[in-house]
Amino acid sequence: MPGRMAGRRALITGGAGAIGLACARRLLAEGAEVVLLDRSADALAAAGIGVSPVACDVRDPGAVAAAVTRAAGLLNGPPDVLVNAAGVYRIAPLLDLTPEEWDDVQAVNLRGTFLAGRAVAAALIAGGRPGSIVNISSTAGLVADAAEPSAHYNASKAGVLALTRQMAVEWAPHGIRANAVCPGVIDTPMLRMMDDPVAGAAYLRTGVPQGRLGSTEEVAAAIAFLASDDASYLTGAAVPVDGGVTAI
Ligand SMILES: NC(=O)c1ccc[n+]([C@@H]2O[C@H](COP(=O)([O-])OP(=O)(O)OC[C@H]3O[C@@H](n4cnc5c(N)ncnc54)[C@H](O)[C@@H]3O)[C@@H](O)[C@H]2O)c1
Repeated sequence: MPGRMAGRRALITGGAGAIGLACARRLLAEGAEVVLLDRSADALAAAGIGVSPVACDVRDPGAVAAAVTRAAGLLNGPPDVLVNAAGVYRIAPLLDLTPEEWDDVQAVNLRGTFLAGRAVAAALIAGGRPGSIVNISSTAGLVADAAEPSAHYNASKAGVLALTRQMAVEWAPHGIRANAVCPGVIDTPMLRMMDDPVAGAAYLRTGVPQGRLGSTEEVAAAIAFLASDDASYLTGAAVPVDGGVTAI
């Protein structure tokens, strides 16, 4: 949709990652100005897509507030599109999961989404501007998976859905929409189940109605739609991008 995002200022957390980068490419192609935020300046430099990088750890409230101010400077105005793609994935059966591992995952996936969302919304509300937030949850926030035990990840992603709904209702009066996407098995380094090709192929046959992995571009397309005015009456929604996994 060339031009659909013309004039929009987008900030993408986890912007050096697989889905964050695909999102950046999509929003750029649709005409947005884009700033990428990630914890690693090196990773941002390596991304090499020629947009402004801001190094920031989304767990740190002061750093997030400073990063949003920096992004607003680079974009000549507060971001009116925020994609929260920063995230970490960990596997551990519940009986082995330490409280520290639990906290680490919540800190990035849930607290980071809260902090970035709040900082961007505060800037928009202060300026009386509308905006759109898209949080990346996961099918793991909707259903459990015995084959890949990851209660801490699943709980963080379910938390992102609850957070998204609350953002939607609290900020609707300010013209800010908030939605979530729930990617399923997306062809990225984060996806570990395909490390075992036999088990992976069996899963695709039986667990994914469309019978294949999703691509980062397919996730980015859904995010771009939700961020755009084409989704002007969608807020508080959780959109699976999962080839039908959660329809079974
Ligand atoms: N890949 C999948 O199959 C899949 C499926 C469902 C959901 N997701 C979600 O999509 C999002 C993006 O996943 P991805 O596959 O692109 O993973 P990725 O690892 O390629 O990207 C995640 C990015 O987040 C950044 N990050 C991690 N901790 C951070 C912190 N404290 N501060 C700032 N940045 C930090 C990383 O540096 C990385 O660049 C994640 O939230 C993930 O949970 C991915």
